Amino acid sequence: MNLKKPIDVLLAESAESGEGTLKRTLNNKSLVALGIGAIIGAGLFSLTGIAAADHAGPAVTLSFVLAAVGCAFAGLCYAEFASMIPVAGSAYTYSYATMGEFMAWIIGWDLVLEYALGAATVGVSWSGYFNKLLHEFGVEMPLYLTKSFAEVDGGGINLPAIVIVSLLSLLLLRGTKESANLNNFLVVIKVAVVILFIALGWKFINPANHTPYIPANTGVYGEFGISGIASGAALVFFAFIGFDAVSTAAQEAKNPQKGMPIGILGSLAVCTILYVLFAHVMTGLVPFEIFKGDASPAATAFKVTGYGWLQMGLIIAILAGYTSVILVMLMGQSRVFYTMSKDGLLPKFFGSIHAKYRTPWKTNLFFMVFVSLFAGFVPVTDLGHMVSIGTLLAFSLVCIGVMILRKTDPNRDRPFKTPFVPFVPILGIIVCFYLMYSLPIEAWVRLAIWMALGVAIYFFYGKKNSVLGRKNQQQ
Ligand code: ALA
Repeated sequence: MNLKKPIDVLLAESAESGEGTLKRTLNNKSLVALGIGAIIGAGLFSLTGIAAADHAGPAVTLSFVLAAVGCAFAGLCYAEFASMIPVAGSAYTYSYATMGEFMAWIIGWDLVLEYALGAATVGVSWSGYFNKLLHEFGVEMPLYLTKSFAEVDGGGINLPAIVIVSLLSLLLLRGTKESANLNNFLVVIKVAVVILFIALGWKFINPANHTPYIPANTGVYGEFGISGIASGAALVFFAFIGFDAVSTAAQEAKNPQKGMPIGILGSLAVCTILYVLFAHVMTGLVPFEIFKGDASPAATAFKVTGYGWLQMGLIIAILAGYTSVILVMLMGQSRVFYTMSKDGLLPKFFGSIHAKYRTPWKTNLFFMVFVSLFAGFVPVTDLGHMVSIGTLLAFSLVCIGVMILRKTDPNRDRPFKTPFVPFVPILGIIVCFYLMYSLPIEAWVRLAIWMALGVAIYFFYGKKNSVLGRKNQQQ
């Protein structure tokens, strides 16, 4: 039997307060900051150049617009759910209410790819910039401590990535308010550096670098021309991942009905504007071909402005930016597992709240180890693809969920309504599938393996221990 969790039960659970529950400390501004905290990161600072060099040329700005439109469709669906069912489990919980327990489990399991592996991916990029910073100071760490053996010959373990993931996990364990405060601070630095880059770089734009704005197709699909803009969008989609992480903080929001749509859509809108301007300046400063294989294109482009002395500050700000992405991803992950454990689909271990700090501390510790293993040993491109495919699957399921709930529960109070249903969710699904289709086959195989493992765990553990399932049997 496919059990669905009644929305009224969900709302009652989220309204509980006191010991053993999460604390409501986040206002609307913190929520937008949380979104931006999760969004601006490796996608912008590392992938923009590669997307320009390999796919779209200066028209990478249009790739950003295309990816943003896709995300906006899903974002509108997220906003409806998050304001209507403001609980910590995000997409997992929305599916529990609309498509039943099995699909909820599938999506919760899938979110590990987005949040936990997302944190690992950005952890690896963090390590890359950290080494660059050390290099500026004349310090070189040995290769076997900075890159995994799977990434390069002579590599061993990515130690800086493990250290940053561990430190942030410990901070999260210490308290949500403390983590949000650090995040707010990091977000200010990160946004400041993006604006500074745009403002200082603008007058150095050389129109010749923007001509032609859409380079002709080379004859290879996805290399310049219109198909290049589309392939570029699949790549820079990664830069938008994270706006949905706001919804995992619903139970800690002071006014979730209003705060959730503001946090999700507000952060998405702010980032889109910044990304397009940033990419426009970056490809205007130098010929885009220069970015081929360059993981720190922002620094490369910035050199021509003559503000070379700002280079160090740029790297530090980028590190700060990556730190906030990892922080929010780790937080989102622990909240999803916390909720799944409360529902009995995962052992109680994951739902236990620290008596003093009021955080799901055991989950934080578990993911400290789990994420560290991936950050320490798996190559960054493999991780990035897994994150994208997992996230796109989650987005599609949320779009489907909105349509289902409009049919099965049309009269429920919806503080925010997705416009033009079913068109918006359907377009969301089409864009997500198109982007998934553009990812390599290995990503699909790994997704299938991860999901098969999840299905096995559900039938061996979750199905038997489900709180809802047991209640139903007793009746
Ligand atoms: N959007 C996040 C980033 O670009 C995941 O790092």
